[in-house]
Amino acid sequence: MKHLIDPTDLTRAETDEIVALGEAMFANPAAYAETMRHRKLGTLFYEPSTRTRLSFTAAMMELGGNVLGFADATNASVAKGESVGDTARVISCFADILAIRHPVEGAPFEASMTSLVPVINAGDGSHNHPTQTLTDLITIQKELGRLDHLTVGCCGDLRYGRTVHSLIKAMARYEGVRFVLISPEELRLPEDFRREVCEKGGIACREVTSIEEAISDLDVLYMTRVQKERFPSQEEYERVKDCFVLDAAKMALAKERMAVLHPLPRVNEIAVEVDADPRAAYFRQVEYGKFVRMALITKLLEWKDRDTPSHRGLFSDATLRCTNPKCITNADPRTPRRFRRQPDGTLVCACCDAKAASLK
Ligand code: NCD
Repeated sequence: MKHLIDPTDLTRAETDEIVALGEAMFANPAAYAETMRHRKLGTLFYEPSTRTRLSFTAAMMELGGNVLGFADATNASVAKGESVGDTARVISCFADILAIRHPVEGAPFEASMTSLVPVINAGDGSHNHPTQTLTDLITIQKELGRLDHLTVGCCGDLRYGRTVHSLIKAMARYEGVRFVLISPEELRLPEDFRREVCEKGGIACREVTSIEEAISDLDVLYMTRVQKERFPSQEEYERVKDCFVLDAAKMALAKERMAVLHPLPRVNEIAVEVDADPRAAYFRQVEYGKFVRMALITKLLEWKDRDTPSHRGLFSDATLRCTNPKCITNADPRTPRRFRRQPDGTLVCACCDAKAASLK
């Protein structure tokens, strides 16, 4: 079965196919209005969400389908102590496809191990957010007409921001894409991620500490919110919360065709005056997101006989544990611990991709 847990669960060709179908749906939504008649999307949202959940809901409705699920886990069986795996297994009896968001990393992976129907990761902790990435890709394609040979600036919280992690993984597969990482020291892209994705993949990545240093080189400026809820303490958040603000003066230094993206919600990182700039694509991005989710639902149901790369090569080993304290295997010890071997021999947790360590 085809699940979407990590952006690389879709090949580049599959990703391009979804983006292209999203564009076709955007151009002619009426042609797809009945295609999901009598089909149901189950939404399991264990973490606050406005646009992602409503975007999925709107997407399924636009296709003529129905939606069931919960937006607040305090009302669900989880309050009685049910595991994510059990909840997913149960709801997969009622729905044709599931979308799950969870603050704990690896929860959507665990759901995909028990579900009878395809599972879509709608965001897990600081780990991944592959449907935001599809939204970002369709936006870049529509705004700039291509996904290759682009210089992409990622600005803000590169440490805790799952949208940036997924975007870099996905865009690293397009020829000639270079990244400029714009963050304060405290919010740099995690070292392991940088090594695994950028260095091993031979992706050009430059780190800078101000927007002004980089903006004139960029085709895409991807702004992000400082992820307050992921910080170990309020003080640490306060120190960096307003580290970068994009305003009209900085936009004046940028290329005429640069596109400004933001997964939203915005706090202070983009001044409201930028909204009127034709290069501000973030509200159009919200709209494209619905169409690319329509395309994703359609394709995952069509591709049921394809496999999921995140499920390949897994093994259990009772002598190993995951080193990430935010991983579901550590947050809920009932979760089976599964691992996979990387091409370079290192063992990583199948749920969250963090390094494995010996229990002994
Ligand atoms: C993002 C998320 O939840 O990671 N929002 C979204 O899905 N549109 C970004 C954020 O919360 O900052």
